[in-house]
Amino acid sequence: TVYVQRSYFISDVASSLLYLLSAGLTLLSSFLRTSFPNFERSKQSVTIGSTNQQTVSLHITKINHKMLKTSTLIHHTTNVSPSPSTSSSSSSALFTSGSFSLESWRKLSSNLEARRQLMKNMCAKYKSSISKTITRDHVKQIYVEDKYKLLYCEVPKAGCSNWKRTLMVLAGQASNARSITHDTVHYNNHLNRLDSFDHKEIMHRLQTYTKVVFVREPLERLVSAYRDKFENPNNHYHNLFGKPIISKYRVNPSQEALRTGNGVTFKEFVQYLLDVHRPVGMDIHWELANQLCHPCLIDYDFIGKFENMEEESNLFLRITGAPRNLTLPSFKDRNPKDKKTSSQITEKYFTQVSKGQRQRVYDFYYMDYLMFNYSKPFKDIY
Ligand SMILES: *[C@@H]1O[C@H](CO)[C@@H](O)[C@H](O)[C@H]1NC(C)=O
Ligand SMILES: *[C@@H]1O[C@H](CO)[C@@H](O)[C@H](O)[C@H]1NC(C)=O
Repeated sequence: TVYVQRSYFISDVASSLLYLLSAGLTLLSSFLRTSFPNFERSKQSVTIGSTNQQTVSLHITKINHKMLKTSTLIHHTTNVSPSPSTSSSSSSALFTSGSFSLESWRKLSSNLEARRQLMKNMCAKYKSSISKTITRDHVKQIYVEDKYKLLYCEVPKAGCSNWKRTLMVLAGQASNARSITHDTVHYNNHLNRLDSFDHKEIMHRLQTYTKVVFVREPLERLVSAYRDKFENPNNHYHNLFGKPIISKYRVNPSQEALRTGNGVTFKEFVQYLLDVHRPVGMDIHWELANQLCHPCLIDYDFIGKFENMEEESNLFLRITGAPRNLTLPSFKDRNPKDKKTSSQITEKYFTQVSKGQRQRVYDFYYMDYLMFNYSKPFKDIY
């Protein structure tokens, strides 16, 4: 079976390329072993576990050292044999860009370690204000994948649909993440949430599973949520949020606007967000990632960033022993015609509000900025 597994990975790739790939994986796992103890376990139980493989790994390690020293860039295009089969392209799943380098792995894993360290420091600094007991409420955003022992904390507007697709494939609900429709992902996904378990089962999973969260630049996430929920037809949000927002902040609103809740402006949305007496509560789409995933209570093994989502997710999938042909899909399925919210688009939306409001929105999301190491979004604020 070892050979079957391996040949599925290797077949049709020049053997030297195999060695280089394995070299990378071995190297990578050694980088991450210390910081992600769970990966080692899941890797052993899911992929490796044969002396044969270990021999290969040992052999590879020597090559690693040499490669590391010289920081060689390996380009797939130049190494792949002239007639790669379809299965060989899936073997390069980690390297979706078509090329990879040990240097970029090293950089990424040290970034990941730095993120965790920063989180630890910040949590120690602010610990007095944070409760110590984990309740069901703290874990309601967390999805459970029991087969691969993963816990994924969902931060909406930070790539969660594609992550949920991936979890569905891991759970065996679909063979291909790309074939899962948006509605299925959000309304019929059969994924378990951690708060559906009893306390003992929750704690067991928190202690033994690999925990991952993906975050996004807070203001980009906010603008993305506004565009998604208020610029497009959405009866639920327009009723629940649109109506009270228009009725509280718009001067001389039309009967039509009051009746439908359509057409909330970004400025009105920001007024609502900053209002200490909001006419309607917060929503997960613009709630702080901190408040959704509680990183000071839950020690995430992997803090990923939306900005580098594909590379980081695929790295994560490889180390957790997910099937090698599984990579994170890159759908933008809500309003696919709209351009993905970029920093330029975000800046443009924020020209519609005053400097004071920009400052206060930044202050509002300040903990996310600190804990996830995002830099100040505007020069003219402090
Ligand atoms: C925070 O981000 C900056 C770049 O924006 C980076 O240079 C620095 O190393 C990061 N710090 C941590 C602790 O991740
Ligand atoms: C991955 O491989 C499995 C089994 O070899 C297959 O069933 C599945 O459809 C493949 N998935 C993708 C995304 O190609």
